[in-house]
Amino acid sequence: VTTDRLPIGVFDSGVGGLTVARALMQRLPREKILYFGDTARVPYGIKSEETINHFAIQIAEFLLAQQVKVLIIACNTMAAVAARAIAELAPVPVLDVIAAGAQGAVERTRNRRIGVIGTLATIRSGAYDLAIRRIDAGVEIVSQPCPLFVPLVEEGWFSHEVTRLTAQEYLKPLIADSVDTLVLGCTHYPLLKPLLQEVAGPTVELVDSADAVAARTETLLLEHGLANPGVSSPLHQFFVTDVPQRFQQIGEQFLGRTLAPVQVVRL
Ligand code: DGL
Repeated sequence: VTTDRLPIGVFDSGVGGLTVARALMQRLPREKILYFGDTARVPYGIKSEETINHFAIQIAEFLLAQQVKVLIIACNTMAAVAARAIAELAPVPVLDVIAAGAQGAVERTRNRRIGVIGTLATIRSGAYDLAIRRIDAGVEIVSQPCPLFVPLVEEGWFSHEVTRLTAQEYLKPLIADSVDTLVLGCTHYPLLKPLLQEVAGPTVELVDSADAVAARTETLLLEHGLANPGVSSPLHQFFVTDVPQRFQQIGEQFLGRTLAPVQVVRL
């Protein structure tokens, strides 16, 4: 198999990274995806940097052993903590949601006030601040961890009153600070887009890191001559570390289509 026909490895702590897989499938219909979700150990967003790093490296090594041409860190928490360690060990290009989301935010803001929401670990790491300031040092950034969003989304409460009240509470400081751009810095948040847009108001532009990283992947494949020249509708593969039925059930909501059989692996 020539390199351009190899699959793209996409990984996350669980089901959430399917928002990234969905964006990739829409933009790059010829590319085969190997998806890995660490359902035995999710959530990562409340764990220490050391643990997140260790898990992230194990997953990257698993996918590299399956022969992928590109690795995509779909999980914001792993991207925030382990992006450098993964780039150092991988012999293939590595992309992640944070670099892509930061770029998207800087391009969109008009008043140079950007809000960032994510898990505790992502916000605590300061990775978005760093990535945004690297592009534009003068931007003001207001960050807010939103730990209740992940379980609410996994419950399917995309427009539930409880989720709305939670969002109002979390977004209050960002709205008070007049951010005009809001980075959805977690795999699960694209599913709350309509609700978050309503709560944030029409003047705030939401940046979906999943779309941003899919756009970057397209550019990378073209620049490196790695785009698959084959026919479309490849058979994607899904690997999880536990409870494949639950992954399949929730995953279909994330993906917006049926999921191929899910394989359980042990790391
Ligand atoms: N995938 C994680 C993220 O994007 C959210 C779920 C978790 O905490 O593991 O930050």
